[in-house]
Amino acid sequence: MIKKAVLPVAGLGTRFLPASKAIPKEMLPIIDKPLLQYAVEEAVREGINEIIFVTSPEKFSIKNHFKKNKKIESTLIKSGKQEIAEKINNKIFSKVKFYYINQENQNGLGDAILHAESIVGKNPFAVMLPDDLFFSEKSCLQQLIEIFSEKKSSVIAVNQIDKENIHKYGVIKPDKISERIMKVDDIIEKPNADEAPSDLAVCGRYIFNPLIFEHLKSTKPDKSGEIQLTDAIKSMLIDEEVFGTIYDGEKFDCGSKEGFVHATIALALRDDSINESVKKIIKDIV
Ligand code: G1P
Repeated sequence: MIKKAVLPVAGLGTRFLPASKAIPKEMLPIIDKPLLQYAVEEAVREGINEIIFVTSPEKFSIKNHFKKNKKIESTLIKSGKQEIAEKINNKIFSKVKFYYINQENQNGLGDAILHAESIVGKNPFAVMLPDDLFFSEKSCLQQLIEIFSEKKSSVIAVNQIDKENIHKYGVIKPDKISERIMKVDDIIEKPNADEAPSDLAVCGRYIFNPLIFEHLKSTKPDKSGEIQLTDAIKSMLIDEEVFGTIYDGEKFDCGSKEGFVHATIALALRDDSINESVKKIIKDIV
């Protein structure tokens, strides 16, 4: 039912400079896979077959990464490295259509999503922020899709965040329906800890009805001149119910250096080909 996903990837990645000067932040690897590929795989596994990257012209390596590379593939096959060749042209991407739309100016997340309107059209769609890396038995996106299928209203993934960090996120005022599901009564972008309506922060997965575009168009820029997706969601609450669900699983915030390192260590310890030596390295260092 949800066939399209919008992935905003135009940001400068200032926290990761100088690494992100020539390599887009989203292309930095967690072990051996670019961060962005984890989100794309999550989408494709849940049946999404159109991926819309809202990006910038300097980030051409994203396009190179997701297009088929027959040359390297045939070189690897000729030298008997079939298994590695499959990593180059991942089979699960063969039926996926990738779009690249340029966001000329850094006018915020809301503006980025609005850039995808002509391709999304009148369909419900997912928004995935690739900085947020999720691991769970049932993917974060699938958890949202199930609620969307039942409610036919926009759905946001949230998780509990401690007071010291709540100012980094969009925060909802929940009206509890069940243990994990709630109606969103209000939503505030990056509130001070004292003004936060709850400890439930928006994490980087959403499913929207196309109505969100109308609200994005009428959303005014915030103090820093950015159009916030959160403000458009708040405005949409007048016209449509929006639901939140507490994401059940692990989350790494790879937009921060600590989160990136955390994800790298966690995945290294799960990788059978290196985990024993990584354990030893960590033990030696500590
Ligand atoms: C964005 C959203 C924020 C959300 C967060 C999740 O903020 O604006 O509402 O909680 O993603 O990662 P950003 O991290 O881009 O500053």
